[in-house]
Amino acid sequence: MTILVTGGAGFIGSHTCVELLNAGYQVVVVDNLSNACRESLTRVEKITGKKVTFYQVDLLDQEQLNAVFEQEKIDAVIHFAGLKAVGESVAKPLEYYHNNLTGTLHLCDAMRKHGCKNIVFSSSATVYGDPAFIPITEECPKGKITNPYGKTKSMLEDILMDLCVPDPEWRVMLLRYFNPIGAHESGLIGENPKGIPNNLLPYITQVAVGKLKCLGVFGNDYDTPDGTGVRDYIHVVDLAEGHVKALEKIESMTKNNESGYKIYNLGTGIGYSVLDIVHNFEKACKKEIPYEIKPRRAGDIATCYSDASKAKAELGWTAKRDIAKMCEDAWRFQSQNPEGLSD
Ligand code: WQD
Repeated sequence: MTILVTGGAGFIGSHTCVELLNAGYQVVVVDNLSNACRESLTRVEKITGKKVTFYQVDLLDQEQLNAVFEQEKIDAVIHFAGLKAVGESVAKPLEYYHNNLTGTLHLCDAMRKHGCKNIVFSSSATVYGDPAFIPITEECPKGKITNPYGKTKSMLEDILMDLCVPDPEWRVMLLRYFNPIGAHESGLIGENPKGIPNNLLPYITQVAVGKLKCLGVFGNDYDTPDGTGVRDYIHVVDLAEGHVKALEKIESMTKNNESGYKIYNLGTGIGYSVLDIVHNFEKACKKEIPYEIKPRRAGDIATCYSDASKAKAELGWTAKRDIAKMCEDAWRFQSQNPEGLSD
């Protein structure tokens, strides 16, 4: 089977390419390289010893996107491509809505035109807003989302579900990620944000490597065991494996003549606080991570972790890598690539 991976040069995309190639799929990547580089795919090829077909195409360019579908016989799509910085999305709502929504509409249109109606979508636990209950199951209602980035994820879920209503040929997997961190254990690919990182782990790794001075911990007065925010951090390779399982589910649905959409949380089911992460990372890098307590960050919630039992029951997937491994692998990538990857 040939899988089109949009955003395949990015953090989760590149790790998913590795797992797809290892599982025997052919991989075609479409990426505009706006927040990624070609080098990460060269490294995917190095890790797997297999070839990736790459198109530098923007999903907003309908003509070029259709040309990819004409050139390649695509069996299913894994759709990661999108803008993803929460703070930036508040400052540039039009860019975020246009890029994430229009890009996905173009993708679905091209898929329909070419008779490929199998899609795995990169969604987020952010759709639960401040969750109605914890641990969060897929039954938890979607909540009030405080930023355009998160709203695009929620809207795109709705759009993809609506596609299934009149057309029984669509098979849609909505994967709601918790907090992906870590890196491939080779140290060759990992998280590679441009500029000052917004997310916790990349910020910590850059403090450890000396690029940033001190971590700001956003609030220590939450209703959590140590007062700092609690999240469900998941190793990016576990997450990548979840995508392979989602494709297998699509294949089994196809065999059984089933269609429609399915929703799965991809998390570990365990919550760690900001300070837990700092201390685990200190063990991995054998350095002290200086931090200072700062005011709460707008839009943050106290606690968010998953109940991942549905993915276990229906996809046969569970996260296997623990927090020590997540920190070790993140550190290996950062220390081997202090300047990150670039072309
Ligand atoms: C984790 C915890 C912060 C940075 C966001 C998006 C989500 C998903 C992943 C991305 C929180 C604290 C952070 C720092 C800190 N999407 N923190 N100092 O906010 O759970 O999720 O990223 O593509 O949709 O909302 O992740 O890593 O930003 O924060 O204290 O410098 O770390 O307050 O408690 P978050 P995060």
